Amino acid sequence: MTTLFTNIKELLQIRDAATTKVSGKDMATLPSIKNAFLFIKDDRIEDFGPMDQAPQTADTTVDCTGQIVLPTWCDSHTHIVYAGNREQEFVDRINGLSYEEIANNGGGILNSAKKLQETSEEALYEQASKRLDEVISLGTGAIEIKSGYGLTVEAELKMLRVIKKLKENYALPIKATFLGAHAFPTEFKNNKEAYIQQIIEEMLPKVASEKLAEFVDAFCETGYFSVEDTDRILIAAQKYGLTPKVHVNQFTTIGGVAMSVKNNALSVDHLEVMNADDITALQGSTTMPVALPSCSYFLSIPYTPARDLMNAGLPVALATDYNPGSTPSGNMNFVVATACIKMKMTPEEAINAATLNGAYAMNLAEEVGSITKGKKANIIVTKEIPSYGFLPYSFGSNHIDSVYIDGKKI
Ligand code: NIG
Ligand code: FE
Repeated sequence: MTTLFTNIKELLQIRDAATTKVSGKDMATLPSIKNAFLFIKDDRIEDFGPMDQAPQTADTTVDCTGQIVLPTWCDSHTHIVYAGNREQEFVDRINGLSYEEIANNGGGILNSAKKLQETSEEALYEQASKRLDEVISLGTGAIEIKSGYGLTVEAELKMLRVIKKLKENYALPIKATFLGAHAFPTEFKNNKEAYIQQIIEEMLPKVASEKLAEFVDAFCETGYFSVEDTDRILIAAQKYGLTPKVHVNQFTTIGGVAMSVKNNALSVDHLEVMNADDITALQGSTTMPVALPSCSYFLSIPYTPARDLMNAGLPVALATDYNPGSTPSGNMNFVVATACIKMKMTPEEAINAATLNGAYAMNLAEEVGSITKGKKANIIVTKEIPSYGFLPYSFGSNHIDSVYIDGKKI
């Protein structure tokens, strides 16, 4: 089965297979071909180039006059498996309570954990798959999903089994992250050590033996998991072959970045609050800094200092953080626009961050994230728009005409 896209106004994010991420100044460049063709064979990108070199025949031809084609968004940080919602806390925050105050009153992550524990695996799957369908229609073509709203052995495994079922039923690449260390359950409030033991001695072996996750995460933050707690969990998880991706520096900087780099974390995520030591720790590492601007937007907290990171020669990835508490949105188009509007990333930088660098942050850069021969044919075809800068500029509208996953129109 072959599909030929013709007369593409501009084909974005053309890369060779050796480029697995873009850093520093290079993020300002988004390689493209104007008046291009793209040729897909089965689920893979077979060829692309200027229109005058297009092949003559294909099983299907799609005329893209006036339309832009780019790789699908790579959302490397989500929590889309959750039960119900936290609308009430949203209203409480409008009325003046902080995220921290809500959490201290038994709301927040523990509220979601209670709901999730009471929800069946089937119902949880139904809710999560609706969210996944929605974000695919918004252009997401690879996604990471975390556990972390279970917080008991059974409920954490239930969440991870839901993610496993999503992997089986969907064509887009899905990566699973074990986030048992998301919050301390109430019953362990006065014995945090016992919960850490439960994560290390009960949860991790089960997650590993059922092969339920590729990655391990922890909420390394004041009032949650300390740098030392997180370090122990990451070290234990790596013995089971799980690669760290860590929530750090959302509210305070306590040394979590350096500790994550020491543990060869694939990514450090949030980074709303950064100091010079955090940036130095990332230099020379293979760890991807991941910014989550719709979380900053929703909670009215600072935005990740992407410009400082790029000026230090570092890469930046963008992801949604889709979750019921801090970011009830999985719209990568909004993330890209908000990165431009609030973080002062250029459209080129934001698109690099939301595609190739996002793929890197999931260990998927060989499969997705750019228009590269041999990569998966996961692409976005926009409506007729004046230029790619129009995507973040005209931020409230849906500019997507169609999404292809594995070469098939969704
Ligand atoms: O990434 N910061 C920790 N975890 C989630 C939010 C958790 C919640 O409020 O449910 C996040 O923002
Ligand atoms: Fe998160």
